[in-house]
Amino acid sequence: MNDQNLMEKIVSLAKRRGFVFPGSEIYGGLAGTFDYGPMGVLLKENIENLWLRMFRDDRDDMYGVDATILMNPKVWEASGHVAGFSDPLVECKKCHVRERPDILIARVHVGKALMLPADSSKQFELLKKEKIPCPIGGEHEWAEPRQFNMMFRTHAGAMEDESAVVYLRPETAGGIFMNYKNVIDSIHPKLPFGIAQIGKAFRNEIAPRDFIFRLRELSQMEVEYFVKPSEWQQAFEEWRKMMHLFAEAVGLPNGMVHELEVPDGDRAHYSKRTIDFEFDYPFGRKELWGLAYRTDFDLSAHQKGSGVSLEYLDEETKEKFVPHVIEPSLGVDRTVLAVLASAYREDDLGGETRTYLALSPKVAPVKAMVAPLLKNKPELVEKAREVREALKKVHPAIAWDDNGNVGKRYRRQDEIGTPFCITIDFDTLGENPELLDTVTLRHRDTGEQERLTVADVAERIKSAVA
Ligand code: GAP
Repeated sequence: MNDQNLMEKIVSLAKRRGFVFPGSEIYGGLAGTFDYGPMGVLLKENIENLWLRMFRDDRDDMYGVDATILMNPKVWEASGHVAGFSDPLVECKKCHVRERPDILIARVHVGKALMLPADSSKQFELLKKEKIPCPIGGEHEWAEPRQFNMMFRTHAGAMEDESAVVYLRPETAGGIFMNYKNVIDSIHPKLPFGIAQIGKAFRNEIAPRDFIFRLRELSQMEVEYFVKPSEWQQAFEEWRKMMHLFAEAVGLPNGMVHELEVPDGDRAHYSKRTIDFEFDYPFGRKELWGLAYRTDFDLSAHQKGSGVSLEYLDEETKEKFVPHVIEPSLGVDRTVLAVLASAYREDDLGGETRTYLALSPKVAPVKAMVAPLLKNKPELVEKAREVREALKKVHPAIAWDDNGNVGKRYRRQDEIGTPFCITIDFDTLGENPELLDTVTLRHRDTGEQERLTVADVAERIKSAVA
């Protein structure tokens, strides 16, 4: 299967089985927006809950907030986003299409080695030198690059003038910095401590693409971890390890996650050191998550912008200083895509080709499916319902599917990545007295089946999803 083909298959399965749908689809969609369906919501929530557990709840130095998306615009002036959160764009002089010069260059160099200059004015020179054409009209008359701010603007209140402009937050981090002082004043944590938040962020990406990889409305799982300036390296290393542990926990194969030390000049304006965690997506190795050392850039900028002291008082040394910040920032949607892409499988089972998702049971939307062998035998149905109720006490995501024959039920569950299928038959009811109260447990990846008591099945599910 080539990679383009794989991507098409993932997108198709995501829609067919209720993971991800194009946003506002019946009106032709809206670029850069996707909705999560019944299975997608469960997968996404499982990923988020695992993150909350590992990054916040299992630690004594982490606190949560849920800040607003709309904030005082001064937040984004101080943070540097009004001035600097922009992409350089060139415009075709004929058809007025706008595009990033690096994307135009990469398009004509597909499959060829290319040293792309980081600087957009050098990219522009290359664009002219190579007479790179406009993808719409084919002309190659490009205007000089201009900075295009990626923040969505709207207006708060009845006035639609400049005085009412507010932005949709471009990163959840802003809401965390706004609550740093509130957390200190209400909870009184000692350094080092961190604040975690999951939420939406908005970016007016010029070229949203690759399904849920580059979106205009996205979700982030972010931590701002506040440390003494001298202790940033140690904290950086701790979070670096934690990000690898999280990759493992959601089931991303070790060999598909790579670190990239982002060089000077390519880092965001606030960062003194950044490691990108990259993933081998079907469309290439691309940024999955980022880990940044934001220094005291944000707190100092907000202190200056607001006139409110954001210094931390060390009770022991009586020293006052602005803490430094380590930021592990994880995109939810890119994680979902990496999980789906690495779990997608096609194989031959019992002489038939099948598609399945080899999802980790921890993130699988449905943990097990229970069904009676025959749906027209009330005694089997009754027993199966009883078994399902017992298993639901272990985990609520236990599905019921008595449609069609057993093979078809298995195929449906395989496609959504359900690790276990449980069938209740006449032996469960005691037709063979030795097998009374036992069921068939079928394993997704191998198709193998075994006979177990309901209590053993419950144990298996419990340990697989823990
Ligand atoms: N607070 C830091 C920050 O926002 P970033 O590298 O711009 O840094 C962090 O974004 C993460 O958010 C990325 O590593 C990625 O997972 C996700 N992300 C960024 N832009 C995205 C987009 N347009 N669509 C989907 N996810 C995106």
